[in-house]
Amino acid sequence: MRKKKMSQKTWGGRFKETIDEVVDRFNASLPFDQRLYAQDIEGSIAHCRMLGEQGIISKEEGSLIIDALGEIKREMERGDYAFDKGHEDIHTLVEKALIEKVGAVGEKLHTGRSRNDQVALDVRMFVKDAIHRVASLIKEMQGVLVILAEKHIDLIAPGYTHLQRAQPILLSHHLLAYYEMLKRDRQRFLESHKRVNIMPLGSAALAGSTFPLDREMVAKELGFEEISNNSMDAVSDRDFVLEFLFASAVLMMHLSRLGEEMVIWSSKEFDFVILPDAFCTGSSIMPQKKNPDVPELVRGKTGRVYGHLMALLTTMKGLPLTYNKDLQEDKEPLFDTVDTVEQCLMVMARVLKEVSFDKEVMRKAVDKGYLVATDLADYLVRKGMTFRKAHETAGKMVLHAIDQNKELGQLTLKEMKGFARQIEKDVYQWLEPSFCVTRRNIPGGTGPDMVRKSIVKAWEELGS
Ligand code: ARG
Repeated sequence: MRKKKMSQKTWGGRFKETIDEVVDRFNASLPFDQRLYAQDIEGSIAHCRMLGEQGIISKEEGSLIIDALGEIKREMERGDYAFDKGHEDIHTLVEKALIEKVGAVGEKLHTGRSRNDQVALDVRMFVKDAIHRVASLIKEMQGVLVILAEKHIDLIAPGYTHLQRAQPILLSHHLLAYYEMLKRDRQRFLESHKRVNIMPLGSAALAGSTFPLDREMVAKELGFEEISNNSMDAVSDRDFVLEFLFASAVLMMHLSRLGEEMVIWSSKEFDFVILPDAFCTGSSIMPQKKNPDVPELVRGKTGRVYGHLMALLTTMKGLPLTYNKDLQEDKEPLFDTVDTVEQCLMVMARVLKEVSFDKEVMRKAVDKGYLVATDLADYLVRKGMTFRKAHETAGKMVLHAIDQNKELGQLTLKEMKGFARQIEKDVYQWLEPSFCVTRRNIPGGTGPDMVRKSIVKAWEELGS
């Protein structure tokens, strides 16, 4: 354990006084940016190797520094490193730890580099990793949805608009709607990767470096596709973080809608879905309660992710070029967003794996509420009516059925003929929900053939 306090700042030269204690704490980012230690050290190792290759430091000095940095990284990985609160941020801490290990030679590491490009690098490396982790969690959840859709392929459910029963659908079609949303979410993350994959080191503070740095070499070593084109942009831009936050906000919005459906569908009012006990909690006072905390929390956490996006947008909006300390405020929203999104994806996938649906209740819901009225109108069109006329006639028949306290399929042929002479016995088949679904065998529709095709396509897309 290292406990030695190193109060001397890396920038202490032009200062007569030591920093105010409260300001020191206020200014420090170490409590949260210590999370970037691995990226910071990997970046430093690449920078150092390049300094050696370019003859800016000697090869021997380079390997001394690189070995010590590796050691520091291992100490931090083991978790037995006391992140000394006296340090301003992870960058100064690593540098000081290095100097402590190897002495004055360690002071050469920062040649041709600034914390401004260093922090931009670290955050970019962090976001690149996060994109891949989140994308694979999204993919897992897509897989869970497809399995669920396959399992319930025969289940007919009421489809809603305005939360009013609208038309019969296959439950699988409903579930696969979320598959599509997640597919776009995953694309959004992965497409943003190319804009994150740009290496800023070598921008130095803002104007580029006077040393003959081989920026391409550093980029290659760290697995970046390109180097940044403008040093001023490279140190002051955080739109790659904003893109990540935006993609996360949209993803959370989708998870929240699914969460909301789980909440209302598990209520007594709907009773469509049974959430497993292991994912619910009880009430401290009402013994009968089984609360859908997980989907509620996912819905709730969406708010904080939106908040993080707004927070950083607002932080950025008036900043003059180039680096401003305001930019330090990018990290906490980013870290919390990554953690929240990962947690929500994991927990929602677990819940979805275990949910069961009440076929009977759903079927009853389909049978009541005139969900087949559109099909009645379509039937009348087939019998020669214009669609507007057919819509009006079917509407009148619904009104009549409501008065009679019947569903459309319970009206007699005589009653129906009173509204339109063209109606024949074959109308009853048109009013059967399973046929309503089957008739919608149009690409993108809820017809079973189409839904089956979507499932096959989904498996192809998921690469399984
Ligand atoms: N802790 C700072 C941040 O997170 C690092 C960069 C500081 N640069 C500076 N010139 N003070 O943004």
